[in-house]
Formats: sequence, structure tokens, C-alpha cells
Amino acid sequence: MLTGHPANNVPESVYAKLGAGLHTRPDHPICMIKQAVYDFFDGGDFGAFTKLDDLPAIVPATANFDDVLVPADHVSRSPNDTYYVDDETVLRCHTSAHQAATLQKGERAFLVTGDVYRRDSVDASHYPVFHQMEGVRVYEEGEWKAAGAASGAAHAEANLKAALEGLAARLFGAGAETRWVDAYFPFTEPSFELEVLFRGEWLEVLGCGVVQPAILDRAGVARGAAAWAFGLGLERLAMVLFGIPDIRLFWTDDARFTKQFRAGDLTTRFSPYSKFPPCFKDVSFWQADGGELTENDVCEVVRSLAGDLAEAVTLVDAFTHPKTGRISHCYRVAYRSMDRSLEDGEINELQEGVRAALSERVELR
Ligand code: DAH
Repeated sequence: MLTGHPANNVPESVYAKLGAGLHTRPDHPICMIKQAVYDFFDGGDFGAFTKLDDLPAIVPATANFDDVLVPADHVSRSPNDTYYVDDETVLRCHTSAHQAATLQKGERAFLVTGDVYRRDSVDASHYPVFHQMEGVRVYEEGEWKAAGAASGAAHAEANLKAALEGLAARLFGAGAETRWVDAYFPFTEPSFELEVLFRGEWLEVLGCGVVQPAILDRAGVARGAAAWAFGLGLERLAMVLFGIPDIRLFWTDDARFTKQFRAGDLTTRFSPYSKFPPCFKDVSFWQADGGELTENDVCEVVRSLAGDLAEAVTLVDAFTHPKTGRISHCYRVAYRSMDRSLEDGEINELQEGVRAALSERVELR
């Protein structure tokens, strides 16, 4: 239990996303990436994977954090980062929330896909809801011994790397250059990130590692077994592979977007339709002495009022008053519609709404 946080910090605009199921619509780019990963594992020799893509996004906080060994003081538990439905229940912030319970049910090789929720900044690649896929593969003691491996962990690590290098080659092309980077996750040891060289840039595509034995143990997996796990972000992959420039596009019903994608065709390059000009509005305020209004708080106020018309929220100025010591923050909001031109009056009204909402918590300048 966390002290001093609101019992519920989920705005209506975020609740409204529950059940949208972008990852279950065959012609949607998010679902197409999911399907491509399914096809890769179906055709490989890494085992037969159970696919789960309809597990509810509202989960016990214990499943989201404790069951995957997220430390009690980890930042991700803070209500600044995670949506709490109540003190004990969250909107999952990663699909790792299903690792323990799925193992407990007896699954030993599975792929869990779903919508995940995080309080975050507003820009072209961050949105309060996005999609992840979690993969887990357990090797019972007999299996890794029969393969002649030195240890279960060594066997899991070798197979993990082979599987994910194969997946990267499938998605990015056979010649794609990849590299492994050491990482830290509470649920795995060792942990890695896989990066792919794409159009001259190293892109992080997923996190993974050898599952902490304590997770397997508590989920009732037989002693002596070892496992690998990975988690990948589907928007990230879709944006790169299809050339989709803004994460808000995944949520549009505009036929100029939706008609460009067909199940099975990973060669599609998104062709942008006319981009309307953005409109910038600044708002400055004094931080209250007691508690700070964080960037995530400001972003949420803007997103709640402007919805997908909010393209970016950026802290453009911060200073401390030399005499009073008060702190001033100035945020710049970029408003832009993906599919139409915005009226001045409409933007002014939105910005007035933002100012009014902020003025309930801080003193505007
Ligand atoms: N849950 C991690 C995240 O959201 C991703 C991840 C990393 C999942 C490593 C895993 C893993 O299963 O082994 O950033």
C-alpha cells in the first residue's frame, strides 16, 4: 500500500481506451506486428507457444509489481507513473503483469499481448496507452539436460538470444545488424536489450533476460527449471517498420490511415497525408511550496482536455525567483489535428480550459 496517493488517478479519457482491442483487428498495424511475431514463433523450433491476447488490463498491483519482483521503492509504482484504480488495483503498466499467474496456470511457453497504461509525457512517441507483447519459455530440468547444456540458465540464455535474433531478422530483414546491450530489469538476471541497426540508427527493440528463479519458484514451476522472457513494444516496432510518424495515428478512424494497411503485408510504407500546421500555446505557473506539479501531471491535464489534438507538451523554461525562491515553469503545448485544420477559437478555448484546470492546483503567471 502506498501512502498519500489518490485512491484513483485514472481520467475518463484513459478509461475510455479500455477494450479498444487494436491488437485484435487484423488489418491494424499493431495487430499485424503481433501476427508477424506469432508467425515467427510458429515456424521456429523454440517450442509451441500459447497465445493470450484478451487478458483484462485491470490487474492487482501485486501482479503488476510484486509478483515480478519490482522493489517496493521502485519509481514505476508511483502514482505519477502508474494509473491506480484503487490502492490495490492498477491498469497494468506492462504485460509482465501476467507472467506469474500464467506460469501458475501451468503454461510453460506463452505470448501475452495487450494494451498497457502509463502516465507519461506527450510527444510523437508517447501515449498513455500502448501495446506490448510478453514472451516466456520455460525449460524443465530434463529438457536442458537432454540438450547437453551446462546449466538451465545457460540454456535459456542461448535459446533466448537465438530466438530473438531470428525474430529481428524476420522483422527487419535477413541482413539486419543487431547487438546485445546489458540491461537491468527486476524480473530477469542477466538482462539484455536487443538493438537493431535501422536506417543508420541503433534502435532498442525489446528487453529480455533469464527469468529470476524466485519468480518460477513462487509460480510453482519445478525446481531445476530455467526460463527466458522478453517484452516488446508493438507501437515502436510498427512506427519503425511502417514509417508511422506519430503514435496518435494508431487511434484514428481516418480511412486515409486505416486503408493503407492489409493483414500480412509487412512491406507497407505509410504515406503521410497532408499535415496541418501546429499551433503553439504557452502556459506559465508558480510551483506550490508543498507539492510540485510534475510534467506528467501537466501532460495529463492537457491530454484530458485536448485528447488527440495535443501533439506535444514541452517544458520550455524553468527558473527560481532570486528573491522569493519560488519556482516557475513554462510549458509549451503544440496543438495539431492529424486530419483537419483547427480553428483559432477552438484552440483558444482548449488553452483556456487547460489554464483553468491548472489554476486549481497552481498559481498561473
Ligand atoms: N516489462 C518491461 C518493460 O515494460 C519489458 C521486459 C523486459 C519484459 C525484460 C520482460 C523482460 O519479460 O524479460 O519495460
